[in-house]
Amino acid sequence: MTIRDATEVFSEWALRNRDEGMESGHANSVTEMLNIAIPMLEEPFSAIDVGCGNGWVCRKLQSNDNCSKVVGIDGSIEMINKAKQKSMGEFHLAKLPGWKPSQKFDLIHSMEFLYYLKDPLDMLKVFFGEWLNEKGVLIAGVDHYLENVESHDWPKSLNVHMTTLSEEQWRQGMIDAGFTNVETRRVGIKPGFLGTLAIFGRKG
Ligand SMILES: C[S@@+](CC[C@H](N)C(=O)[O-])C[C@H]1O[C@@H](n2cnc3c(N)ncnc32)[C@H](O)[C@@H]1O
Repeated sequence: MTIRDATEVFSEWALRNRDEGMESGHANSVTEMLNIAIPMLEEPFSAIDVGCGNGWVCRKLQSNDNCSKVVGIDGSIEMINKAKQKSMGEFHLAKLPGWKPSQKFDLIHSMEFLYYLKDPLDMLKVFFGEWLNEKGVLIAGVDHYLENVESHDWPKSLNVHMTTLSEEQWRQGMIDAGFTNVETRRVGIKPGFLGTLAIFGRKG
């Protein structure tokens, strides 16, 4: 069977309200990720959520008094339709890597998105060079990674491409992209789950 485009699969999920399960399932990891990234920023800060799904992280950031602007982007039309229904924020329907924002941001956040790309480490370079302001911070969370053996059958069960990288490959990829203060950390750990691998670093 031909491999499916992840954005089509997630449009089907949105139509079946499975975005809500992702929102609650990812909430603890994202809370920890934002608690790491936001204190690293100068205030006020602008933010973009890449692979924003139904836009719930954008809405969370909108409620932060120090966040001056939030943009969400996703390649799934149904996810973006939902995001636009749920709030007045700025949301773009765009498939990566073939799109670039019209401004740079202080915070790039992404949860459970990067490994759907064929070359996520190249995307890190583009984020660093073209999307992020000086002193900006990138934080990305992935649940599909080499050490999380439980996640190895996901590409087959969803019939979508996933790039499986180790914690060390993500860390080195951030350094190769130009980031400083690079760290990886497991967040959202719970019984039976090794945790989301949070990868973060600063520009400059
Ligand atoms: C696992 S969902 C996570 C959504 C959201 N971050 C969350 O935590 O609820 C992955 C999202 O990435 C989007 N996505 C996957 N590949 C993409 C691509 N190449 N360009 C843009 N969006 C993509 C999907 O449409 C989907 O909404």
